[in-house]
Amino acid sequence: MSGGQDRCHVAFQPIGPALVVGGSGQIGGWLLESLARRGLPAVGTHQTTPAPGTVPLDLGDAQSVEALLVELRPPLIFLPAGFTWVDGCERDPVRCDAANRREPIRLARLASRIVPEVRVIHFSTDYVFDGAHGPDDEEAIPNPLSEYGRAKLAAERELTELLGERLLIIRTTWVFGPERQGKNFAYQVARTLREGKPLVCPSDQISNPTYSPDLADAVVELALRSAHGLLHLAGPDRLPRCEFARRLAQGLNLDPTPIQSKPTAELGQTARRPLNGGLVSRRLSTWFPNHHPIRPLDQAVADFRATAKPPWRDPLTD
Ligand SMILES: NC(=O)c1ccc[n+]([C@@H]2O[C@H](COP(=O)([O-])OP(=O)(O)OC[C@H]3O[C@@H](n4cnc5c(N)ncnc54)[C@H](OP(=O)(O)O)[C@@H]3O)[C@@H](O)[C@H]2O)c1
Repeated sequence: MSGGQDRCHVAFQPIGPALVVGGSGQIGGWLLESLARRGLPAVGTHQTTPAPGTVPLDLGDAQSVEALLVELRPPLIFLPAGFTWVDGCERDPVRCDAANRREPIRLARLASRIVPEVRVIHFSTDYVFDGAHGPDDEEAIPNPLSEYGRAKLAAERELTELLGERLLIIRTTWVFGPERQGKNFAYQVARTLREGKPLVCPSDQISNPTYSPDLADAVVELALRSAHGLLHLAGPDRLPRCEFARRLAQGLNLDPTPIQSKPTAELGQTARRPLNGGLVSRRLSTWFPNHHPIRPLDQAVADFRATAKPPWRDPLTD
């Protein structure tokens, strides 16, 4: 499968199917969409929730991981899979470490053995930072406050050691957009406001809402151009979580009155969060010199409203 690859290429040209581990998830769904739009063959995986065209894969099952890698021999692996529930990670640090560090590392190690030229795109988070001096760029020193942040940072470091220049790490934050499972913050806001229930959200957690279709498209572009190393990729607006909720309500034409702001200290969240958080990038303009690849929040919310129809969940009717 790799025999015809022209090693003189500057840009990386995938020649087998790309593999999206976690293709049933929010970002993975849009990665598959972006690859399909470009006519690039790809296979996605799900763990618990099948999506059209995904195959089952549990990262904890090493034999199945190896069998799938041998079958597909993917030259490019996107790795958005993980245990992404931050408070759940705090309650179950063993599962958190397995799903967010140990199992992705094992997959990368197996993939390197089976397809030595494999390139991996791994997804990480601004929760590797403590939120003391945000927004943080790629040079900022990580200091995670939570089990989730610690596992993601450890995965970044071990993957870098293993893969070197065959690795691109994308740190992102507050991802929202149309999704099949309807789990992300935009759906939570829409559902709660539609039901007229109070929506309590932190007034002092600040970050960048990031629109998933744009994020995925930019990541596929970067992968095809063989970007490597560490890149911060998040939306251009940076604001408190409550303001994000209000902008969603406005864009979805929902009454924002039930939105109540409270400081994090009063919320009793299990995991500590970075407060003055968010991401900026020193490197993004090298890859996208003429535009920011993630559209501004209000445009993204308008697109969310227009696009979130089957096969994606509709936040206004679900
Ligand atoms: N969403 C955000 O705001 C955000 C912010 C910063 C960073 N990130 C990072 O971006 C990545 C993707 O986030 P997301 O929002 O797309 O997450 P998501 O919607 O929760 O999707 C996670 C995906 O991983 C799969 N998965 C979970 N455990 C697995 C396991 N043990 N074996 C195989 N597959 C497994 C899930 O499959 P099933 O659903 O089928 O079970 C799903 O496809 C994560 O690495 C996360 O840390 C996300």
